[in-house]
Amino acid sequence: PPIKGEIRFENVSFSYEEGKPVLKDVSFTIKPGETIALVGETGAGKTTIISLLARFYDPQMGRILIDGHDIRNVTLKSLRKQMGIMLQDTFIFSGTVADNIRYAKPDATMDEVIKAAKTVNAHEFIMKMENGYDTEVNERGSRLSIGQRQLIAFARALLADPKILILDEATSAVDTQTEVLIQEAIEKLTKDRTSIIIAHRLSTIRNADRIFVIHNGQIVEEGNHQQLLEKRGFYYNLYTS
Ligand code: GTP
Ligand code: MG
Repeated sequence: PPIKGEIRFENVSFSYEEGKPVLKDVSFTIKPGETIALVGETGAGKTTIISLLARFYDPQMGRILIDGHDIRNVTLKSLRKQMGIMLQDTFIFSGTVADNIRYAKPDATMDEVIKAAKTVNAHEFIMKMENGYDTEVNERGSRLSIGQRQLIAFARALLADPKILILDEATSAVDTQTEVLIQEAIEKLTKDRTSIIIAHRLSTIRNADRIFVIHNGQIVEEGNHQQLLEKRGFYYNLYTS
């Protein structure tokens, strides 16, 4: 079947507090299957963009469409079912590793859980835990490293198989080996799926089809890594300073 998941922002303006605009007349179209990296300095409005897409807030002006439908006209439940949202601090609850992966698809079989974990490079470390997939983890995921928590979140997202993937990439440093595993996993997760990544790692940014540079609530530059470097503008300054 053809890939779905076109995302359109039409003249979207938003403020959390009156008189303090955070997004200013933002318009863009993301094609089905495309991977977009949002970059920009802290406070630029990156997280706000994905918060509006998930309808944690609604814009005061403009509209947001998914596959041509205004997102205000669908129920929150069906809207959020279309998207896998992974925020910076990965959500782990107390239960087994398998329960955590199955979270968005409770009826998934063990085979499906393992397949998802393998695809995102989580299987190997899970098998090294004392009870494998049946190992109990607590809410804070304190028995897992940050990188491992991230891989579990990836397995969860992959199993749910959303048409839109939203990732607010963790800034925490992980070891080089885990870094490689995470990078590979992101490439698999975003393949044939509309993806928006608030990207901090250069490897993620370089792999995106397009990069949107957000500055002061607006998209000030757009293009791939090479194109943006050649512009010698905001992006160039972000990544060469
Ligand atoms: P980083 O995550 O730090 O890289 O920034 P960002 O680009 O994700 O910025 P974000 O969209 O979170 O914030 C944009 C602006 O909105 C900033 O000036 C924030 O201070 C402000 N802001 C974000 N969330 C809230 C909120 O819940 N309430 C209020 N009043 N302001 C907020
Ligand atoms: Mg943010």
